[in-house]
Amino acid sequence: MAKVTGLEGVVAGETEIGLVDGEKGHLVYRGYWAKELAVSKSYEEVAYLLWNGHLPDAEELALLKAQMAEERVIPEYLCRMLDLYPASVPLMLVLQSAVAALGDKENTTWPPTLKQAVRLTAVLPAIIAYRARSLQGLTPLDSLPELGHAANYLYLLTGKLPEEAHVKALSAYLILCMEHGMNASTFAGRVVLSTESDICAAVCGAIGAMKGPLHGGAPYEVISMLEDIGTVERAEPWLRNALDNGTKLMGFGHRIYKTKDPRAEALQIATLEMIGKNASFDLALHVEATAIALLEEYKPGRRLFTNVEFYAAAILKALQLSPEIFTPTFTAGRIVGWTAHILEQAANNRIFRPQSTYIGPMPESEVVS
Ligand code: ACO
Repeated sequence: MAKVTGLEGVVAGETEIGLVDGEKGHLVYRGYWAKELAVSKSYEEVAYLLWNGHLPDAEELALLKAQMAEERVIPEYLCRMLDLYPASVPLMLVLQSAVAALGDKENTTWPPTLKQAVRLTAVLPAIIAYRARSLQGLTPLDSLPELGHAANYLYLLTGKLPEEAHVKALSAYLILCMEHGMNASTFAGRVVLSTESDICAAVCGAIGAMKGPLHGGAPYEVISMLEDIGTVERAEPWLRNALDNGTKLMGFGHRIYKTKDPRAEALQIATLEMIGKNASFDLALHVEATAIALLEEYKPGRRLFTNVEFYAAAILKALQLSPEIFTPTFTAGRIVGWTAHILEQAANNRIFRPQSTYIGPMPESEVVS
């Protein structure tokens, strides 16, 4: 049987956008610590940084905010299309097809443009909220141009002007999700783009990769796990039972990080600041500590620690967002990194075309000429 490598350790390209150092637990966005940006800058400032390579001055920021506010409006035909999907179609697939439907002449040029990146990034949360509210039988809302990106998303979801602490927590989360090197979804986006396809097709590819539980689909499962565990006393037997059955613990382990994911660390602090110490936070802390100890017992030497998804679930739950929109919300952050990578790929493109080792049978007859 062939060794399944999942391209582990393979360097697929150079990037100036982000550094992920799994041994030291470092995450750097274009020369800045991601966890510092998460607590000191807005969504728009960090998006500008990732797209342009430097933080914006006041004028550049004002311009980007105005552009994003303008681009938040969902075209009428897309609203009608969103209304037609049965409730059973998963939101990530709805998002994928919505992005495909935005692929008009203006959005599908080669090479892709920053304007297209801003447009997709700005409208995505509006699409998520439109669908989420429709599914709850609520009327979708129009964006408020005076609100920043994170605040407007919360407003569109809840219909209320959000508290400052909630905006800060969501913004920190979205910023920490924005970029993470050559992860599966970013790689998928770059591969699609490398065929000289377009930004909409590349983002659709990335959304498809993001949907899976081994990538962006994990926070939903983390919440189920924490709800199922329920109390501190049940944590150890529950986790042992899962590991005895060979189940992977959601929110733990990472291909690159062999230490606690720095994003999980930053989100843990942000969650604490936002909700304070309460029973569900205590439970999360206890489950984390117990799981790490048990993972070392069951999988010695694999160095399995908490990843971003564990505290993502805690923070999104504290914001009272429904689990169905956890992965889409992650996507609303990561789309900045995807589009930055898509633009970087286009600027120096060569089609991705790796090889495989054939291990199947050969024809029994000699070569026929
Ligand atoms: N629970 C239990 N065991 C685990 C876990 C886990 N969460 N993660 C890894 N392991 C074990 C594997 O079973 C394997 O054991 P083995 O050597 O006995 O076969 C060993 O650790 C190595 O794990 P791999 O699956 O080979 O690691 P890989 O790098 O392929 O996968 C991944 C990384 C997908 C994140 C994995 O750790 C996992 O499935 N975690 C749970 C899902 C999750 O939290 N996903 C979110 C990741 S963060 C993100 O994408 C934004």
